[in-house]
Amino acid sequence: MKDVLQKYSGCKVLVTGGAGFIGSHLVEKLLDLGAEVTVIDTMLCGNKSAHLDGRKNLSVHEVDVNDVPSMKPLFKGKDMVFHLAAVVGVEETQDEPVNLLNVEVVGTSKVIALSAENKVKRFIFASSSEVYGDSLRPMVEEGPYNPKSTYALTKLVGEHYCAAYYQKFGLEYTALRYFNSYGPRQDERFVLSRFVNRALDGKELYVYGDGKQTRDFTYVEDTIYMTLLAAIIKEGAGQVLNIGTGKAESIIDLAEMVLTMLGLKDKVKISFVDYDKRRSREIEVFSRLANIDRAVKLLGYRPSTSLDEGIKKYVDWYRGSK
Ligand SMILES: NC(=O)c1ccc[n+]([C@@H]2O[C@H](COP(=O)([O-])OP(=O)(O)OC[C@H]3O[C@@H](n4cnc5c(N)ncnc54)[C@H](O)[C@@H]3O)[C@@H](O)[C@H]2O)c1
Repeated sequence: MKDVLQKYSGCKVLVTGGAGFIGSHLVEKLLDLGAEVTVIDTMLCGNKSAHLDGRKNLSVHEVDVNDVPSMKPLFKGKDMVFHLAAVVGVEETQDEPVNLLNVEVVGTSKVIALSAENKVKRFIFASSSEVYGDSLRPMVEEGPYNPKSTYALTKLVGEHYCAAYYQKFGLEYTALRYFNSYGPRQDERFVLSRFVNRALDGKELYVYGDGKQTRDFTYVEDTIYMTLLAAIIKEGAGQVLNIGTGKAESIIDLAEMVLTMLGLKDKVKISFVDYDKRRSREIEVFSRLANIDRAVKLLGYRPSTSLDEGIKKYVDWYRGSK
């Protein structure tokens, strides 16, 4: 399967949200594979691709996905579009619902339309496990769906846009439902980085509720590898895939793992806090685990980084970046 990634060599790829966490890893790997990469990003949370500045075959544009005149020339001649731009983070998505709709629904519709107009060979949409809401069973692509937040709903809408453009204009797409990707360069909007960074600063770790809510934590290298495979193989067209590991961990266990790994179990406290206005109980997903059978079968790949290894890699990166 690895050889299939050689097809990216010389491929002209546009990545929206390419300065973000997942985007920066994707852009780096695409460049390593010999692709020509164009990034569109507002740099809302800084530029996580900054370390790639000056790399051959990379052009970065500080452009909003709602700004069609600026985007238009950038879509010319592109083979593939990875649409990752989004407002991400529980608080961020709740604070500005109108902006969220503007980016995730209006912006996404513009990016899809430009992709169709320019006859790109594959459109990849970054969806989310949030579309499932809560489920006591491992989540399968067919559903059921129970989006609990506006963010989750916008991801379902995006998937439907993809399917509609596929049907009407033949725009081949792959929608990837990411399950809690984590790793180097992630910032504190996300739980693992927040725990590690706070613990190393000697600050207590806050856990919402009883901490028994579970997540399927996926190391970013695995996320990227599955993304690249799904996007390039013929069979990926028209597919919706869970991108996770098929293993779940609770938030409290994650906190304990981080403290054990850092040798800070006796020094850093874990505090349980109630849900509040900024982080409401209504939109919390209590049980989240991916069934990845479809992805494993289609891609011939199973994520290989354990949570222990992944945390260690994040910690090494964080220490090195200080
Ligand atoms: N990280 C995860 O675990 C996870 C889980 C599920 C889904 N996703 C999806 O994957 C994608 C990437 O997520 P991430 O974790 O890298 O988040 P991120 O916030 O690091 O990256 C998103 C990027 O989009 C950019 N952006 C925001 N609004 C924009 C706009 N109007 N125009 C252009 N760029 C804009 C931001 O500046 C940022 O660089 C998102 O679509 C997200 O919804 C991520």
